[in-house]
Amino acid sequence: MRMVDIIQNKRDGKVLSKAETTWMIDNYAKGEIPDYQMAAWAMAVYFQGMAMTEIADLTMAMVETGHQIDLSTIPGIKVDKHSTGGVGDKVTLILAPLVASFGVPVAKMSGRGLGHTGGTIDKLESIHGYQVERTQEAFVQQVKDIGISVIGQSDDLVKADKLLYALRDVTATVDIIPLIASSIMSKKIAAGSGAILLDVTVGSGAFMKNLDDARILAKTMVDLGNAVGRKTVAVVTDMRQPLGTTIGNRLEIAESMAVLQGGGRSDLRHFIAELAQIMLSLGGVTKSIDEILSHLSNGAALDKFKQMIEAQNGDFDDLLNTPTHETAFSKVVLSPKSGYITDFDALVAGHLAMKSGAGRAVKSDQLDMDAGLRIFKKIGDQVVTGDPLFEIVYNKTDFDAELESQVMLDAIVIADEKIEIKEIVEIIK
Ligand code: URA
Repeated sequence: MRMVDIIQNKRDGKVLSKAETTWMIDNYAKGEIPDYQMAAWAMAVYFQGMAMTEIADLTMAMVETGHQIDLSTIPGIKVDKHSTGGVGDKVTLILAPLVASFGVPVAKMSGRGLGHTGGTIDKLESIHGYQVERTQEAFVQQVKDIGISVIGQSDDLVKADKLLYALRDVTATVDIIPLIASSIMSKKIAAGSGAILLDVTVGSGAFMKNLDDARILAKTMVDLGNAVGRKTVAVVTDMRQPLGTTIGNRLEIAESMAVLQGGGRSDLRHFIAELAQIMLSLGGVTKSIDEILSHLSNGAALDKFKQMIEAQNGDFDDLLNTPTHETAFSKVVLSPKSGYITDFDALVAGHLAMKSGAGRAVKSDQLDMDAGLRIFKKIGDQVVTGDPLFEIVYNKTDFDAELESQVMLDAIVIADEKIEIKEIVEIIK
């Protein structure tokens, strides 16, 4: 086979055979196909799309290029969860212990943040001592012992995706639904859980900017998962505004702790309870929303979180006693008018948090664990002139808080009419 013929077939709109796709991915992972040919194929996919059979072949070919995690020695249906990326997205930090507190094992690998989106692993690292790197044996043993572990994605998982994603990033080929679906699902399949809940975010802070694209991505991933025997459900969720009331590593851990103690905003508690209900049912457990919420108010989910932190050498008591650390500077921004919040642009908020030190513009950037944004008013909330809208907390001396807060203020819309939004827009099975 020759790569040039495969590129030509794709360019001309043909459906590649399984043999062609497998050969291409296998040889790319071995370094035998150069980046420029792979980039030409990816760009051809942008224009010609892919048939479902090709997406499935691509996904499984990618899975085969790396190590696959064996969770079979852990009893029960292991349920994984993945978000396509958000701003202030601390769902895993609350959902994983909540689900585990009902006896459904959660063995989860998470990623780091880049650009306006944060990463669960960075957030966990803001907990003093918490280790995100574990051997596979230790990871599996911890889930057997306490029913939960959240670790960083191992380096040898889906080698082809690592190469291809880096290439897509610099060749304007990231935002292609079949490639996003196969990239995400190859990692989820290799990570070994029997069931998967996908949170497909839509809105300014998400990859998918409109509902139609989010639906297509969700359905493609659900079909991919189910086709290989992983029970998969997707929820399309609204990411036009940040999730919850904080953006930033330690700030989000502190907000998660509050929710795990039955506090935080009630819309966030309910959203997570709804996700937990789906995850639990994927794990074969049926619970009402009230039963699920009771594990937030009675300390059961918090206790699971504590067990996980301590099993991974984190200092839970320090977190409980000092949920956040004061920063050198802060700026509270007040509402210039009265009305109802109708937009609080998640992308702008994510960029602001990143610039304050909470995120990375490039992979090598160092994080300030304590920097970020506190949000006091969200879409649907009423405000009166002079009410605090948000607060930026930061340590960087070269951060222009005046300028950045004005940019954020310009991206908050206050109108006369109240609008309601629902976090879960649609469930796709
Ligand atoms: N996240 C991934 O893991 N892969 C993509 O292609 C896009 C988002």
